[in-house]
Amino acid sequence: MSEPKKLYIKTYGCQMNVYDSERMSEALGGQGYVETQSPEDADMILLNTCHIREKAAEKVYSELGRFKGLKAEKPDLKIGVAGCVAQAEGEEIMRRQPLVDLVVGPQSYHRLPELEAKTRAGEKALDTDFPEEDKFEKLKNRPKAKRGPTAFLTVQEGCDKFCAFCVVPYTRGAEVSRPADRILREAQDLVERGVREITLLGQNVNAYHGAGPDGDMTLAGLVWELNKIDGLERIRFTTSHPNDMTDDLIEAHGTCEKLMPYLHLPVQSGSDKILKRMNRSHTAESYLRLIERIREARPDILMSGDFIVGFPEETEEDFQATLDLVEQVRYGYAYSFKYSTRPGTPAAERPQVDPQEADDRLQRLQALITRHQREIQDAMVGRTVRVLFEKPGRLAGQMVGKSEYLHAVHVSGADLSAGDLRNVRITASGANSLAGEVL
Ligand code: 5AD
Ligand code: SF4
Repeated sequence: MSEPKKLYIKTYGCQMNVYDSERMSEALGGQGYVETQSPEDADMILLNTCHIREKAAEKVYSELGRFKGLKAEKPDLKIGVAGCVAQAEGEEIMRRQPLVDLVVGPQSYHRLPELEAKTRAGEKALDTDFPEEDKFEKLKNRPKAKRGPTAFLTVQEGCDKFCAFCVVPYTRGAEVSRPADRILREAQDLVERGVREITLLGQNVNAYHGAGPDGDMTLAGLVWELNKIDGLERIRFTTSHPNDMTDDLIEAHGTCEKLMPYLHLPVQSGSDKILKRMNRSHTAESYLRLIERIREARPDILMSGDFIVGFPEETEEDFQATLDLVEQVRYGYAYSFKYSTRPGTPAAERPQVDPQEADDRLQRLQALITRHQREIQDAMVGRTVRVLFEKPGRLAGQMVGKSEYLHAVHVSGADLSAGDLRNVRITASGANSLAGEVL
């Protein structure tokens, strides 16, 4: 038997890219590739890229530059760019960085085997189509080998919302939901491989409306179906849009035992003027009312969010409205970004906020978010949480897992294995994680 070829795959950006990278690696597995953690050993390097902000996109070019030496030493090495930068920039990537052999977009990576073969024949390969066929149907069956206790599962892709700052509707395309039976089968297979927690993924996951046995199924319907799978202990989903937070989904947070009390619900800004200009079609008030209803259904739910500061024409007063909203919600986690101009999006042409002013706002927002995060995490001390253990910690005899609320929890000196689900009393709150003892 010939030596397997080695694939080094590096993932940038969101969790959907993490899932796509797994599927790409599996697709190339059929071409005789096994994964390696070191680019020096690789016969193929694949960067699965993110285009959401300028910095994310630029990282790809600087990373590619670093492979020049490797390619000179090893002319057979093939270098590919996948993901949203590939989709957005296509051939431009090969022009800017001639060492790239292959460019493949997020909707056509099921064709990787043929594209790889083309590069082996000495040609450049490019595919940034949005094909008619469903890539998930064309991808080969997933392996049966045991794996870790948590997994992502993409159920919906693309976005029709067209927020004025965002590239996703252009790079990932229109909103599409996978049929429910395929998702349930994939979930069942994951559970048979040792998975106990599944996070359903979609750019607009709560807009899910995949074909089910009696017409389209909602995300809540899908969650209830997953709830029936023996051996699956936890269900999460991300990322949701406030406008698609339907009654049945809110209710499921109160009644569905496996659905975890954590919800990522980006609002982006607390100013109605800015929300309107962002084309968000909700107000700060409607968002706050929504959170009230979610908390009525599940009082201990931990909220998470995304924010953009320095969006075109944002004034200090608009920014203050964002701080007010954050004060009212008190997020357990929140991600905030300085507005980044994305070519081709409506906001790119508008008057920009002074970059130093935007930096200053970002710092102030992050300080407030960090204070809330800290307070919420510290308040866990003395409480008993249920932890799904995932892997050994850095210290000998230590294991790390996640609570229902997604806080990382360290436990030392207990007889634990990955996949164990235990009650843990929290004894300390550290910089980014909790420590506790198994009860
Ligand atoms: N600039 C800054 N942040 C952005 N996001 C999306 N587009 C941009 C942009 N152009 C942020 C949003 C989104 C998260 C994934 O990234 O907050 O929710
Ligand atoms: Fe981008 Fe808005 Fe769609 Fe989210 S909802 S992916 S921010 S366009």
